[in-house]
Amino acid sequence: MRDKREVRTYIDAHRRRRQSNKVLHGHPSPVFWLDRDVSVPAVMQNRRRAARGVHKRINLYVGTPYCLPTNPGRCGFCLFPTEVYRDRQQLDTYLEYLTREGEMFRPHLEGAELASIYFGGGTSNLYRADQYSTLMDIVRGVFDVPPDIEVTLEGIPQTFSHEKLAAMQACGINRISMGAQQLDDELIKASGRRQTADQVFRTLDSCRALGLPVSVDLIFGWPNQTTTHMLRDLKALVDAGITHLTHYELNVAGRTDFARNRRDALPSTEQNLEMYRIGRDYLVSEGFTQVTPYDFERRGPAPSSYLYEELFRQPFREDHGRLVGYDAWGWGFAGISFFFGTPQDPGWAYMNQIRVDDYFRDLDAGRFPVLRGFRYSPADLRLHLLFQELQSLEVDRRRYVALVGRDAVAEHRPVWDALADLEWATVDEDLIAIEGDGAFYLPLIQNALAHDRLDAMRKERRTTTDVAAMPAARAS
Ligand SMILES: C[S@@+](CC[C@H](N)C(=O)[O-])C[C@H]1O[C@@H](n2cnc3c(N)ncnc32)[C@H](O)[C@@H]1O
Ligand code: SF4
Repeated sequence: MRDKREVRTYIDAHRRRRQSNKVLHGHPSPVFWLDRDVSVPAVMQNRRRAARGVHKRINLYVGTPYCLPTNPGRCGFCLFPTEVYRDRQQLDTYLEYLTREGEMFRPHLEGAELASIYFGGGTSNLYRADQYSTLMDIVRGVFDVPPDIEVTLEGIPQTFSHEKLAAMQACGINRISMGAQQLDDELIKASGRRQTADQVFRTLDSCRALGLPVSVDLIFGWPNQTTTHMLRDLKALVDAGITHLTHYELNVAGRTDFARNRRDALPSTEQNLEMYRIGRDYLVSEGFTQVTPYDFERRGPAPSSYLYEELFRQPFREDHGRLVGYDAWGWGFAGISFFFGTPQDPGWAYMNQIRVDDYFRDLDAGRFPVLRGFRYSPADLRLHLLFQELQSLEVDRRRYVALVGRDAVAEHRPVWDALADLEWATVDEDLIAIEGDGAFYLPLIQNALAHDRLDAMRKERRTTTDVAAMPAARAS
């Protein structure tokens, strides 16, 4: 966009619409990851080449595909790829395939240093108590796991038990993330989950008794939710002594039940903005710091235990005077990987198969289970890094220039000027800072920053599809 008026017109045209992309914030969105021939050995070779100039570590994500059945399906709102859990055999089989994928990667990741581990999903706490040590052993089959590393496991309240939490802790899992979404026993029913607030608090009690840090996910903008409901949930968690809370705005999209059948019961974008402000102000008044548009942390004397997410947002960091590159390896069903090489010679993002059968079939055939990916250009990497930094609500301009060789302000001047008029951002010599309602509108800000590039990519995609669709072109 050429000037701030054009940016402002774009923002005004979009700010009342529902925003999306709240949970995955990279550039470009995976809808543009269209390369179906990603060669994992070539990606790994690029990684090894980069490792000569940049010290490399791995932020590891291990996915589990399955979720308890719900009616409506997928909890009514979830946009993540998942499959329905039927019986234990599924988990046993899945662990065998996870091991096989690990064996394929082992020669490529020999000696790689782990920075953090995150077991996500799907539902990673569906396993039996004795299977968490198996999960950790599968990871140890590929990596040396340092004893002090952050290891998080994400799950739902119904399937945490004291016994399981103790078993998780015994094998090295040292942080829990619990997706509660709502504490009101009536409101949660819209998701079809058989979940009660009591299960949430019992899990918190067990974690406290075991000394396990725990973070809770809540969603606002839920069907029939009022500010009173929201504040009651936040207060109950604050009173329970929670130190990290993720407060997402509901993302309404796709073929979910909420998108198709619940729109009339959903608060408007303006009401969501009001809820966001009230929630943020309440948490800040209780001593929480806003770390991202939706993460709130009450920092105690212990260092932040939130490393996986922090490293994900800053894939290149200075550590004791040297540049460290944090690649993200998504291991398992629907895993998402970012192997960036260096800022000057960026690499790839790709996603694993998003149907369990396809994931198994690829491994049976001795193929890496990759669905599709995207090769970064330096300009796309600059945007990606800017998106990630903005998640932390500020960009250190000098650090960004040192990393990518360009100033983020000069490159996107009309956007920052428009945001300054809206009081959504301030820019000075050192920092770009997201302010006021800017955090709520961050997806819109990111879309404005990437507007021209995404336009070009859409045209490219159309041209490629048109050409592929022409019989003459296919024949030639
Ligand atoms: C992929 S889920 C997996 C964790 C676990 N299965 C659960 O449901 O809590 C991770 C988190 O993403 C968030 N999430 C999923 N779908 C969302 C949506 N449509 N809008 C906002 N947040 C969403 C939820 O808060 C959830 O806790
Ligand atoms: S349990 Fe979590 S991952 Fe599974 S469908 Fe529900 S929200 Fe999505």
